[in-house]
Amino acid sequence: MSLNLVERESEAILQTYGRLPVEIDYANGCYIYDTDGNEYLDFLGGIAVNVLGHSHQEIIEAIVEQSNKYLHVSNFFFQKPQIELAEMLKYITGFDKVFYSNSGAESTEGALKFARKWGAIHNKKDVIAFTGGFHGRTYGALSLMEGENYKKDMGPFIDDVKILEFNSVEQLENLIDGNTAAVFIEFIQGSGGLTVADPEWVSKITELQEKYNFLVIADEVQSGLGRTGKFFSYEHFDVKPDIVTIAKGLGGGIPIGAILLNEKTSNLLGAGQHGTTFGGNALACATGLVVLKKLNEGLQTDINRIAAYLKKKLQELILKYPDKIKTYKGLGLMCGLEFYSPAKPIVLELLNRKIIANSTSNTVLRLVPPYIIDKTMVDRLISELDSILKEL
Ligand SMILES: Cc1ncc(COP(=O)(O)O)c(C=O)c1O
Repeated sequence: MSLNLVERESEAILQTYGRLPVEIDYANGCYIYDTDGNEYLDFLGGIAVNVLGHSHQEIIEAIVEQSNKYLHVSNFFFQKPQIELAEMLKYITGFDKVFYSNSGAESTEGALKFARKWGAIHNKKDVIAFTGGFHGRTYGALSLMEGENYKKDMGPFIDDVKILEFNSVEQLENLIDGNTAAVFIEFIQGSGGLTVADPEWVSKITELQEKYNFLVIADEVQSGLGRTGKFFSYEHFDVKPDIVTIAKGLGGGIPIGAILLNEKTSNLLGAGQHGTTFGGNALACATGLVVLKKLNEGLQTDINRIAAYLKKKLQELILKYPDKIKTYKGLGLMCGLEFYSPAKPIVLELLNRKIIANSTSNTVLRLVPPYIIDKTMVDRLISELDSILKEL
C-alpha cells in the first residue's frame, strides 16, 4: 500500500517539528496554495522570512540572473554580489564591516566568538543574556537561553553565561560589572511572547556599557530589516549596539545571515579565525540586494502605514473582547495579541478559515506577515478573529 505524504514525512524526516496539516503546492504574494487547491492568507511569512511576499518577481529575476552566472565558487574568491550587499548594509546601517553566515543561529555563534575575543582582550569573562530571549538551536545560542523544552538533557552548555530577568533594572545593576564581556539582547522577543524592552531598562544597559566597556549585541534576526517600524528594532531605544545579528528576511526566502560589526569590533578577528563554506553565497546575496533595494526605495513607509492599521484593528478587538484578550503585543509587523487562554486553538481555527498565523509563549498570537499585506487582508484577519472570539 502506498503511503500518503504525511506518512512519508514521518517515515523519512526526524520528528522535531509540529507541522500544520497543509501540503504546500505553491505560493504567491501573501497567499499560499495547498495541493487541494485551497488558498491561505499568510500572516506568518515563513516565520518572518518572506518579507517581500512569495514569488516576488524581482527576487525570481535575481535568482535567474545569478544562477545563469554562477551559484557557488567559495570564499576564496572576490564576488560582486557579496560586496554589493555588504556595501548596501553598511550604507543603510552605518556599521563598519559585515561577516556573512547562513542562518540566525550561525550569526549568534559568530557573535559569541567576537564577545569572547573582546573578553579575552579586556580580561572579562561573563556573557549576559535574558529570560524570554531566543537566539537559535546551536550550543552557543542555547547557552544564552533559558527553557527546559529547548535544553532538557542536552547540557553542559558553555560556561560563564548569566541569564538575567528581561526588563529588570535591578538585575542589571546587581549582576553586570567589570567582568561582563558582552550582553545579548533581543529588543522585541519574537519567541518570548512579543515582549518589548522597557526604554528605561535599555537606558540602564547603555549607562552600564559606558561604565564597564562591554559589547552590546543586538539580535535582530527576527526584528530587523524594517519589520518593527525602523530598520533595526534597537533604533526605538537609546542604545548603540557594537554587533548586530541578522538573518531570516535578508535573503527574501533564500537562506543567509550576517553579523554587522562597528569600528570597535570589526578588527577583533583576523584571517582564518572565522569562516563558513556557504556564508555569502552569491545567490543569497543577489536576493538580499533586492530586499534592501526595496526597503531603501520606501517600503518602510508602507510597512509603517499597514502596521499602524493592523494595530488599530487589533486594539478595536481588545475593546470588544476585554474578557478574552489581555493586550496588544509587539511593534510594527512583529505584533499580535495576548489572550487569557492558550492561543493555539485560535491559530488552528484561523487555519480552518484559511489564514496562517502562529502562537508563541502559550497565550500569544504572533503575526509576522510579508511587508506587502494590505488593508483588505488585515480586515479579513480581523473579521475572522472577531467571529472566532465570538464563538470562543
Ligand atoms: C531572534 C532570533 N534569533 C535567532 C534565531 C535563530 O535563527 P535560525 O532559525 O535561522 O537559526 C531566531 C529564529 O527564530 C530568532 O527569532
